[in-house]
Amino acid sequence: MAIPGSLLSAAHVVHLKSERLVMRRFTVEDDELLVELDSDPEVVKHVGGVPSTLARIREEVIPRVVGYYDTLVDGGVWATHEIATGAFIGWFHYRPDRAPPHDQELGYRLRRAAWGKGYATEMSRVILTHAFEALRHPRVIAHAEKANTKSWHVMEKLGMTRELERQESGVPVVQYGISREAWSRRSA
Ligand SMILES: CC(C)(COP(=O)(O)OP(=O)(O)OC[C@H]1O[C@@H](n2cnc3c(N)ncnc32)[C@H](O)[C@@H]1OP(=O)(O)O)[C@@H](O)C(=O)NCCC(=O)NCCS
Repeated sequence: MAIPGSLLSAAHVVHLKSERLVMRRFTVEDDELLVELDSDPEVVKHVGGVPSTLARIREEVIPRVVGYYDTLVDGGVWATHEIATGAFIGWFHYRPDRAPPHDQELGYRLRRAAWGKGYATEMSRVILTHAFEALRHPRVIAHAEKANTKSWHVMEKLGMTRELERQESGVPVVQYGISREAWSRRSA
């Protein structure tokens, strides 16, 4: 199925690039891309399990996401495309965690067609490099359901270490983290 707006346009505001991917700002035109992403039960299995409706995307998600660009310095949620094809593959986020102490938090959600190509790890490396070297943030964390092995496997490949496990609404969740010093040692 052709997804309207799935190709990267020259009008989009680009944020960061990796070897194979480019991240750009979301716009109000991206509602159908987000609905399509969340309509796959496998994609939302470990992130609430419920597909987002078009109304929720338009009324809650897009306004929040677009608002980040005004309030955060290089933080937010970015639509991500394959450079080779222009195809929308999902999103990455980097922003203060909602829970205290509000460490910077990395996250990702990719269309199933984009899994298994190393994309989550590739772009997360670029985000962490920017976070530590350009933004000079001291620490970055990431969360996943414990059952979401694909997600925390990415965190481990990035050099993040498991810091804690807890229950959220009865679901076991793991938190990973990495300091700027640990990132520098890995990159040296
Ligand atoms: C979790 C998720 C982001 C992982 O994405 P991904 O891009 O498939 O993850 P990775 O970067 O680990 O790549 C997966 C595999 O691609 C393979 N791969 C293929 N080509 C590759 C390449 N050129 N370079 C690197 N790896 C490559 C690797 O073998 C890797 O697996 P391995 O490390 O076990 O060998 C994805 O499954 C997803 O979006 N899930 C649904 C939403 C979700 O759960 N988000 C997280 C919420 S906490």
